[in-house]
Amino acid sequence: MTDSEKGKNNYLLYLEDVSKSYGSKTVLNDIDLAVRQGEFCTVVGPSGCGKSTLLRLILGQEQPTGGQMLMQGKPIGFPGPDRGIVYQRYSLFPHLSILDNILLGKQLSRSILRSIRNRKNDREEALRYLESIQLAEHAHKYPHQLSGGMRQRVAIAQALIMKPTILMMDEPFGALDPGTREMMQILILELWEEYNMTIFFVTHDLEEAVFVGTRILVLSQFYTHEEDYVSGTGKGARIVADHPLHGEKALSTKVKTTAEFGQLIQEIRSQGFDPEYLQNAREFNLKHPDSFITFTEIP
Ligand SMILES: Nc1ncnc2c1ncn2[C@@H]1O[C@H](COP(=O)(O)OP(=O)(O)OP(=O)(O)O)[C@@H](O)[C@H]1O
Ligand SMILES: [Mg+2]
Repeated sequence: MTDSEKGKNNYLLYLEDVSKSYGSKTVLNDIDLAVRQGEFCTVVGPSGCGKSTLLRLILGQEQPTGGQMLMQGKPIGFPGPDRGIVYQRYSLFPHLSILDNILLGKQLSRSILRSIRNRKNDREEALRYLESIQLAEHAHKYPHQLSGGMRQRVAIAQALIMKPTILMMDEPFGALDPGTREMMQILILELWEEYNMTIFFVTHDLEEAVFVGTRILVLSQFYTHEEDYVSGTGKGARIVADHPLHGEKALSTKVKTTAEFGQLIQEIRSQGFDPEYLQNAREFNLKHPDSFITFTEIP
């Protein structure tokens, strides 16, 4: 094994030169990304730039058109319990109680016989997760009896009980009002600490991204290549910025009012979201110590 292969195995997730096209349309282009266990990566970028596509590739729901994708040193396979996902709209079954909704995934992943044998332990475990999301007293209610924020907490517990190595969240708080959303940001940080998870979190809200993450990834189609000074639009999005965020997560939303916080948001907005501002690929803002970039040489 070469040193470079050993290096790749040190990461939980390692993507090199990953691209994804649908027919003649390239959505993602040359994605290079190395992520360590325990990181909370937030992903932002203009609408349609390929954020959800990136999550689907990591989930194994879709295959990349090119490049290498490794998880714990092995090629990423089909979807499995090691990768969980929470979407914007809660995926709860209306005819099942909250407790049964949380138990469902666990029971589906087992044979009927093992499910029956483990029923008591599973229920106790599900109740513990309900406690973590502060809904223990609602265990026997049905989804329509809960608010949107509560239902989204149940969807998070549904994913957590499968103990995924990576939890993916695609605009998980997008449908919530601002107050509930802020509570959920604090809750997800607490759960991230408690369960020692690695999280990929897509959001349209830059303030949310900078607040919850330990690292922010900006995907954008607005850039130029070395060999081509015309707009990169149509060539697919790349990671144009990769920033470490404050490592010790302050569980207070006061940080959102600081000058430093506002400045970083401005920087990200111009680097990733302004079609007029075309940064060259060699000048991408890759400040995170694990970020890297490969250039495909032109023959
Ligand atoms: N199965 C598919 N077939 C063809 N094109 C697709 C398919 N899936 C996604 N796309 C295209 O890929 C691009 C990226 O889509 P994706 O949903 O990943 O963007 P996104 O960054 O998540 O957008 P949003 O912020 O609006 O959620 C879009 O232009 C979309 O139309
Ligand atoms: Mg999306």
